[in-house]
Amino acid sequence: VRPLRVALLGCGVVGTEVARVLLDHPDDLAARTGAPLELVGVAVRDVTRPRAGVPAELLTDDAESLVDRADLVVELMGGIEPARSLILRAIANGAGVVTANKALLAEQGPLLFEAADAAGVDIAFEAAVAGAIPIVRPVRESLAGDHVTRVLGIVNGTTNYVLDEMATKGLDLDDVVRQAQELGYAEADPTADVDGFDAAAKAAILASLAFHTRVSLDQVAREGIRSVTADDVEWARRTGHVVKLLAIAERTAEGVSVRVHPALVPAEHPLAAVRGAFNAVFVEAAAAGPLMFYGQGAGGRPTASAVLGDLVSVARDRLTGGKGSYESAYASLPVLPADAAVTRY
Ligand code: HSE
Repeated sequence: VRPLRVALLGCGVVGTEVARVLLDHPDDLAARTGAPLELVGVAVRDVTRPRAGVPAELLTDDAESLVDRADLVVELMGGIEPARSLILRAIANGAGVVTANKALLAEQGPLLFEAADAAGVDIAFEAAVAGAIPIVRPVRESLAGDHVTRVLGIVNGTTNYVLDEMATKGLDLDDVVRQAQELGYAEADPTADVDGFDAAAKAAILASLAFHTRVSLDQVAREGIRSVTADDVEWARRTGHVVKLLAIAERTAEGVSVRVHPALVPAEHPLAAVRGAFNAVFVEAAAAGPLMFYGQGAGGRPTASAVLGDLVSVARDRLTGGKGSYESAYASLPVLPADAAVTRY
């Protein structure tokens, strides 16, 4: 089988992890996809800056030529331009697209989806919302036959980490934001996290999927955590609460209402137990009832997991014409006899 050529656009904390897995575990991915995935290049702004584990000869600053050589394009640059033009170029070329770009999806999702539909190619974006947590596919596909009434949760790891550190260590916001940047949780410009833009973009994406409509960023009421002080957090603790930045999307009698703001969550509520850069999303649907999704919402490796899952899925669709065979997933891993499955202490 001919290898599928993969172009990676962007090589930050997530891109580096995606490249590493593509280079270090080609056989695993080939078995799951049905064809080898060959990383043909990584587009970066500065080719002279070394990227851990990524050979220098793969780096290029000519993203357009790289896109033109690819069957599959993984966009992890973030921001609106040049990400938007490069994705449209990939779609026009007939390439499958994976993106984690929540800002772009929240602002220009309809344009991208229409272009992808017209070209008959996939655009997958599981990594755009809540890092490693599978939430896009469940809301978009698994719940497509239900009637979602509410989506509520913590969808920004940086602010959750910051509020958590403020609560446990009494630190001020600015100091902890720097730590979140060092840990690879924060956006390139962390004001996107602190002022709630990142959570609002994710809320817009989730609301669009959950309610089968188009919610854009400017339709999301937004308040970030900039005005939350260590004293507020301590006061909340003394009254049996935890401060959390919540994203809430509801179906009301008048229409869909979407908002992001800090909230006092009772200490015994499951959301109060979401610590560090973890995220949690509750979905309420008429028939399914309440559902809860929980996991790591930020960071290179967790987010790379979602990107790679999308990449396997888009690659598989491409090979099977959308019929998505799972046969190749049954590789040769030995299965132990039943009695070996009982752990003896
Ligand atoms: N900056 C984002 C966050 C990264 O903290 O959640 C994941 O989208």
